[in-house]
Amino acid sequence: MTEREPIGVIGVGWVGAVTAACFAELGHEVWARDIVPEKIESLSRGELPIHEPGLSELITGNAERLHFTTDMQEVVDHAQLLFVCVDTPPTYSGDADLSRVEAVIAELGDSDEHALVMKSTVPVGTGRSIQRRREGIGYVSNPEFLKEGSAVADFMNPDRVVVGANGGSEQYADRVEALYTPLGAEVVRTDVASAEMIKLASNAFLATKISFINEIANVSEELGADVREVSRGMGLDDRIGPKFLQAGVGFGGSCFPKDVQALKQLAGNSGYHFQLLTAVVEVNELQKRRTIGKLQKHLGSLAGKEVALLGVAFKPDTDDVREATSLVLAGRLAGEGAHVRAFDPVAGAKAEDMLAGARIVESALDAIDGADAVVLVTEWPEFRELDWTGEVKRRMRVPLVVDGRNFLDREQLVEAGFTYEGIGR
Ligand SMILES: NC(=O)c1ccc[n+]([C@@H]2O[C@H](COP(=O)([O-])OP(=O)(O)OC[C@H]3O[C@@H](n4cnc5c(N)ncnc54)[C@H](O)[C@@H]3O)[C@@H](O)[C@H]2O)c1
Repeated sequence: MTEREPIGVIGVGWVGAVTAACFAELGHEVWARDIVPEKIESLSRGELPIHEPGLSELITGNAERLHFTTDMQEVVDHAQLLFVCVDTPPTYSGDADLSRVEAVIAELGDSDEHALVMKSTVPVGTGRSIQRRREGIGYVSNPEFLKEGSAVADFMNPDRVVVGANGGSEQYADRVEALYTPLGAEVVRTDVASAEMIKLASNAFLATKISFINEIANVSEELGADVREVSRGMGLDDRIGPKFLQAGVGFGGSCFPKDVQALKQLAGNSGYHFQLLTAVVEVNELQKRRTIGKLQKHLGSLAGKEVALLGVAFKPDTDDVREATSLVLAGRLAGEGAHVRAFDPVAGAKAEDMLAGARIVESALDAIDGADAVVLVTEWPEFRELDWTGEVKRRMRVPLVVDGRNFLDREQLVEAGFTYEGIGR
C-alpha cells in the first residue's frame, strides 16, 4: 500500500475529527463515521461541533478528501485501516467502558480485509482479547497523545508515534507506520500490550506530576515558600522539566481522571495495589475542594454569598468541560449555600446543565458584578486583560480573589486593595 492509502475513522469526536482532518491534510481520502447524525451533518457543512484551534480550517480546506457519514458500510467499503476513535468513558467501578469499542467490532463482523487501529485509550489487554475473539481482523494499537487546545499541532508534530502489533498484524502496523512518515517523528514499534501501557502510563505520570506539585504547593503555603519559584527551580533540571509542574486547583478533562482511575483499577483487577495512583487521585480531589476553605477563611460562612467563577472549561482553548474542576467547585459552593455565577469564553453553553446550581452569564463582568469573591478556575488569557484595579474592583462587593492558577498579577491586585489568595504562595 502507498502512503496515500485511504483511511477510515470511526468516532468523530476530538480525536476522530483531528485524526480525520490531519490525514486528509496529508493527502489521504478519509471516510469518517459517527453515530450522531447531527454531528455528521454539521461536519459535512464544514461546521465543527467542538472548539479546537486550527481544526475548522483543516476541515474546510480538505473538504474534497473528507467524507463524513453515519454509515459504517461506506467506511468499510473504502478503507482497510479503520482508526477507532470512540469514547471509552469510566464506568462506576472506574474501569474503562468498552461498550463503544465492542459496538464497532460487532458492526465490522468477521472481515479478514480490515484492521482496527485503536486510537481510543483502552485497558492493557484489550487488543489481545479482541484478537482472540476475532482472529481474522487485523489489530494495531496506535494510542493518541494530542492535547485539546493544541490538538492539530500535536498530531502534526508528535513527540513520538506508538505502533503496537502482534504476529499476523505486523503488515498492517507497517502500513500504519508509513502513514506517519511525513511527520518525521520517532516511531516506537512494539507489541500491543506495551503500546496500550505506554498510553496509560504516560497520562498517569503526568497526573502524578501535577498532584506532586500541588502537594508541594500546599506545604509551601504552610512553610512560607512560593511554589512558582519552586517550580521554576525544579523545572530547569532537565531530568524533571518545567511542563505539568504548575500548581493549581487540580486536573480535570476527559483523559487524566479517567485514565488514572482505569490504570489503578486495571492493576487492582490483576491483584496489584497501585498505591501511588490512589494518592494521585485523592490529592486531586482534595485540591479541587481547597478553594472552599480559602473563601471561608475570608468570608466566614458562604451561605448567601455571591461567588463569581471565571472559567468553566477544564483548561483554556477548549470548550471541553468533562471532569472540569469548575463542576466540583460549583457543586461544593452550592452545597455551602453560595450563589454562583460562572462565565467562560467558549464553554458556557456546554456547561449549562452540568454546573450544579450555578448561573452561566454572558461576560466576566456580569459574573463579577456584586460578587463577594472571584475564583479564577481556567487561565483564559482574556481574564488577565480585565480592568482589575478599576472596573472589576468597583463592581465587586468584597475585593477577594482566589487565583486558582497563579495567573493574575498578585502585586498589582494587592496594591489596589484586593485580598489575594493564590496556590502555594
Ligand atoms: N480528547 C482527548 O484529548 C484525547 C486525547 C488522547 C486520547 N483520547 C482518547 O480517545 C478516545 C476518544 O476521545 P474523544 O475525546 O475524541 O471522545 P469524544 O467523546 O469527543 O468522541 C467520541 C465519538 O465517538 C462516537 N461514537 C461512539 N460510538 C460510536 C460508534 N459505534 N461508531 C461511530 N462513532 C461512535 C461518539 O458519538 C463521539 O462523537 C477516548 O478513548 C479518549 O480517552 C482522547
